[in-house]
Amino acid sequence: METREKIYQWQPVVGQEEIDEVVAAVESSWITEAHRTRHLEELLASWLNVEHVVLTNNGTVAIALALIALGIGHGDEVIIPDMTFVGTGNAVKLAGAKPVVVDVRPQDVTIDPREVERAISKRTKAIIPVHLNGRSAEMRTLKSISKQFLLPIVEDAAQALGSRRQGRMLGTESVVGCFSLATTKIITTGQGGFIATNDSDFKKRLTELKDQGRLHRSWNHHPAPGFNFKFTDLQAAIGIAQFKKLPDRLQRMKAIYSRYRERLEALPAVTFLDFDFESGLSPWFVDIYVHERDELAAFLDNMGVQTRPFYPPLHTQYDFHAADACPQSIRFSRTGLWLPSSVSLTDEQIDYVCEAIEVFYDHQSGEKIRSKEKETQDEPAG
Ligand SMILES: Cc1ncc(COP(=O)(O)O)c(C=O)c1O
Repeated sequence: METREKIYQWQPVVGQEEIDEVVAAVESSWITEAHRTRHLEELLASWLNVEHVVLTNNGTVAIALALIALGIGHGDEVIIPDMTFVGTGNAVKLAGAKPVVVDVRPQDVTIDPREVERAISKRTKAIIPVHLNGRSAEMRTLKSISKQFLLPIVEDAAQALGSRRQGRMLGTESVVGCFSLATTKIITTGQGGFIATNDSDFKKRLTELKDQGRLHRSWNHHPAPGFNFKFTDLQAAIGIAQFKKLPDRLQRMKAIYSRYRERLEALPAVTFLDFDFESGLSPWFVDIYVHERDELAAFLDNMGVQTRPFYPPLHTQYDFHAADACPQSIRFSRTGLWLPSSVSLTDEQIDYVCEAIEVFYDHQSGEKIRSKEKETQDEPAG
């Protein structure tokens, strides 16, 4: 196999459209949160089929503001999955509450509703399911738990913009859904995040919270609690151009995933989890599960292919505590690997990555045969 230019696990893709929009924003001199931010909020709300979208600095702040707007803070507990980006948990801490982590399901790496139910205490005030990697959390059971225990659900859809389940966009099934527009996401504004909701009162509280406790910028009255978590029109300009590319990118992500899967599924050592494209789900990245994850990642790195291992279990990170043992999360953390997944990836690059993985496993089986032969040779003659 000849080596080529480095293949990145993920690369943001911006073009002339983004440049033109930013130049127009600068020329208008409205560079703080203004008309373009409102326009991007409208575009996102209509795409998600929700009443309101509120843009903010990033996805972590989006989750924190959603919790604060729900009245959650000091002394409260929020149940979150053990396998997620640390931002989910840090958002709970930013709101002043305590994250309680629970295990995930083996079939889709999303929060296990049975574990959620077991972890509910008098202090529990909300549940945050994460639609990890674009797969839907098991919302039906979670919603019935939410109803039974009167606990709001805050959906973390940071990795799931545009992924649908039975026609409905992930992140829109409960009172509030939170999204990220970080550079690793399917569309980006550099940093950025937003909250989607159908509740007008809730939207009002979020608007106050992100702008010093007021509803209008010109006011000097601050009748509610608030901070400064506003967006900028420079970011919105990029977001508007990126938004137009979203449908094509979602299609491309499914095609990339399918191409990897068709070729690699033949390898017994490589496991894929199901992705229900029929129902409308769309992947964030291409995820595979392999026992020799770190060796494979190192081999691919030598071949010019960058990959990304799954997150460590959250309960092993600074000041996070699990309600109970989390064997699934530990297993995923040891075996999960994200392959190169940029929307700009060519079919030829995907084939190169697959070939490199095949070569790795050819070497591995060669090694196994050789060590077996050696064992037999070393056995004392009997
Ligand atoms: C699942 C999940 N939750 C929360 C976040 C936090 O979003 P941000 O990085 O925009 O703060 C991310 C971002 O990567 C994420 O993947």
